[in-house]
Parts: sequence; C-alpha cells; structure tokens
Amino acid sequence: MSTTLELLLVGFGHVAQRFVTLLDEKREALALEHGLATSVVGVVTRGHGRMWAVDGLDAASIRERLASGKNAAPPGFAGSTTDFIRAAAAGTSATGEARLIVVETTTLNIDNGQPAIDHIRTGLSSGAHVVTANKGPVAFAYDTLDDSACRAERRFLFEGAVMDGVPVFNLVRETLPAIEVVGFRGVLNSTTNYILTAMEGGQSFESALSEMQAAGIAEADPTLDVEGWDAAAKTAALANVLLQAALTPHSVEREGITPALGPRAREARRAGRRLKLVATAGRDGGQVAAHVALEELTEDDVLAGLEGQQNGIVLFTDVLGEIAVIQRGAGLTQTAYALLSDVIAVGRTLIDRSDRQERPRARRDRTPR
Ligand SMILES: NC(=O)c1ccc[n+]([C@@H]2O[C@H](COP(=O)([O-])OP(=O)(O)OC[C@H]3O[C@@H](n4cnc5c(N)ncnc54)[C@H](OP(=O)(O)O)[C@@H]3O)[C@@H](O)[C@H]2O)c1
Repeated sequence: MSTTLELLLVGFGHVAQRFVTLLDEKREALALEHGLATSVVGVVTRGHGRMWAVDGLDAASIRERLASGKNAAPPGFAGSTTDFIRAAAAGTSATGEARLIVVETTTLNIDNGQPAIDHIRTGLSSGAHVVTANKGPVAFAYDTLDDSACRAERRFLFEGAVMDGVPVFNLVRETLPAIEVVGFRGVLNSTTNYILTAMEGGQSFESALSEMQAAGIAEADPTLDVEGWDAAAKTAALANVLLQAALTPHSVEREGITPALGPRAREARRAGRRLKLVATAGRDGGQVAAHVALEELTEDDVLAGLEGQQNGIVLFTDVLGEIAVIQRGAGLTQTAYALLSDVIAVGRTLIDRSDRQERPRARRDRTPR
C-alpha cells in the first residue's frame, strides 16, 4: 500500500513548473522504489492566481486552470499566501494526517528573506512539512526555522537552495556522521560562471546574461546574480547549516561581476588561469568569516575546471580532509529534482514513523495468548 503525500505549491514559476512535470515522470519510481504517491492539492502564486482541489491536480490541469483565471481556495482562506497555507493545512488534516508538504518556491528577497520565511513558519506551525529551493529563508533564519520544525516534529528541507539537486546538505547530514565541516570554498552561482566563461571566449556580458534569463536560470532580478548577492545568500545558507554560523547575506563580504571584466577574463585564460567568483567561509577564532570574491585560479585548482553553468564546492573537514562536489549539469530539472528528493525524504520519514508505530503492535499480535 502506498503513502500519499499531499503537496501545496507556494509559487508556480520556472522551478515549480518543472517540478510538477518531474513528479509525473518519476511517478512509477516513487511508487515502486519508495511506496509513495503524490497529489498536488493546491497552488498559490502572487499575481497569477491560486487553486485548490483535494482530489489532486496534474501539471496540465494546473496550467489550464491558472490560464483560465478561475481561482479556487480552501475554506477559511482570507486573502494572503499565509492564509492559504493555514487554510490548506486545515483542509487536508482530516484526510492526510501529517502528509501535507508545502513546496516553497517564491522569489528570493535579498533584503530579509521574506515573505518566504513566513510561508515556511506558517506551514510548520500548521502541521505541514516544508521543502524549499529558496535560499533566502536558510540564509536569514535557518536556526529559528529549524527549531520550529523540531518543535512541530515536521521536516524542513532545502537541498535546492545550493547547487540544485546535487547533494551538499544531504551529503553532510546523511552520509558524514560525526564529521566536522570547518570551512568551504566554491563556485556557487551558475549565471555568473556562465557569463565569465562566455566572456573568456569573446562573447558579450549582456548576451550571455540574456541566455541565462531565457533559460530561466538567472534570478527574477538578475542583479542578484551579477552583483554577487545570490552567491552571498548561498554562502550564508551553507555557513549557517554546516558551520553553525549566524550569518546573513549582508554579513558576507561580496564582490560581483561587470562587463568591464571581459579583457581580464580573456587575459587570465591566455595565461592558463580562470577568473571565477569564489565563495569562501571558515572559522576564524570563535567566529565564522565569509566572503564572495573574484579570484584568478590556477589550472590545478578543482574549481578552475568549471565551465558555463557548472558549480562546485570543496568542503574542508576534520577527518576526511577535502571533499569536492562538482555539478556538471545545472538547470531547472536539477533544481526540481532537489525538491523531489526532499519530498521523498519526507515520505521516508513518514513511512519510518508509521513502521515504528506498527512494529510494537505486530509484536503484540504475535505474542501467544
Ligand atoms: N531558476 C533556477 O534555476 C533556480 C535554481 C535554484 C534555486 N532557485 C530558487 O527557487 C525559487 C523559485 O525560482 P523560479 O526561477 O521558479 O522563480 P520565478 O519563476 O520568478 O517564480 C517565482 C514564483 O513565486 C511566486 N511568488 C512570489 N511571491 C509570492 C507570494 N508572496 N505568494 C505566493 N507566490 C509568490 C510568483 O508568483 P507570480 O508568478 O504571480 O509572480 C512565481 O509563481 C527562487 O527562490 C530561486 O532563488 C531557482
């Protein structure tokens, strides 16, 4: 018998749209390998409508309904996105005990991470689990959100916040028990690495950025990429989770890229070096220091080989030394996969919990009378 996870999509832009089609593509694998089924019960956006259907919606019907402008909301909805989340949690609790997952993919707000932080807090306090690809909440409020999740006995997962679906947070959480991460350095922003690589070959900054926008990879506001804010937010998120820091993107020293870097990028390449926007963090005394800066990397640097949209990170650890994770394929599918892997992780948690509850009963059932 499969466990059905009910999904509430908060935001339905590039990432969420790819996520729902990926759900369809992976339906059989979810059922056969994990005993899981998913049902999208609601979608809420800022200005493109909202919908609600306890029987579930597929990718085509979500698009059709949003295009038709026919809005629907759960009973009790009073107008805001947080109302929608609260009402949805109340509306599903009768049928889906602790099985509602809020899938948060709203726009990054670099000032303070809002309103995504409120969306997540509301989801957790209403009894839902939350997965997100939005780095803002992890960069601004990881500690308090993690506390809220623990108190509510719900999962709060965010693998897509950094390096899309390639495991970084999961790698450390699930496979490196008792390892201390003491620092990291990485190329974390696809758009700027794409532009720098393109400029090495003579392409203009503007046309390379346009390509990233057309592919849905650049942030909704691309200055967040080129001014280094996205990399700073990812650096804060990684430092908060892996180094137990209390950074925000504003406490990360930051440099961006400009069209004027074209000649320097070409010159570096001719000289056997690569110009990269590198994020670095590490413990400095009792504090964690972090910065995002342009560096000319020599060929033997593992980050120097990253082309185009590729990302990479080197974790510095106490026992295993340096661990490098390279993401050669970056894009919407990879970010959508991060959400899917988080959804599966929630599903496995639910199955484990129900197994633990079932096991004592099974033992009792076997006890001779
Ligand atoms: N694109 C990528 O490759 C990528 C990779 C990794 C992580 N991310 C992160 O994933 C998130 C989503 O990215 P995206 O490319 O899908 O962005 P997007 O295309 O701009 O979509 C954002 C969605 O959020 C909705 N939204 C914004 N504020 C809202 C609110 N207050 N209430 C409800 N909905 C709201 C928007 O609604 P409207 O449509 O009505 O405006 C839109 O549907 C961002 O945080 C981004 O940093 C993206």
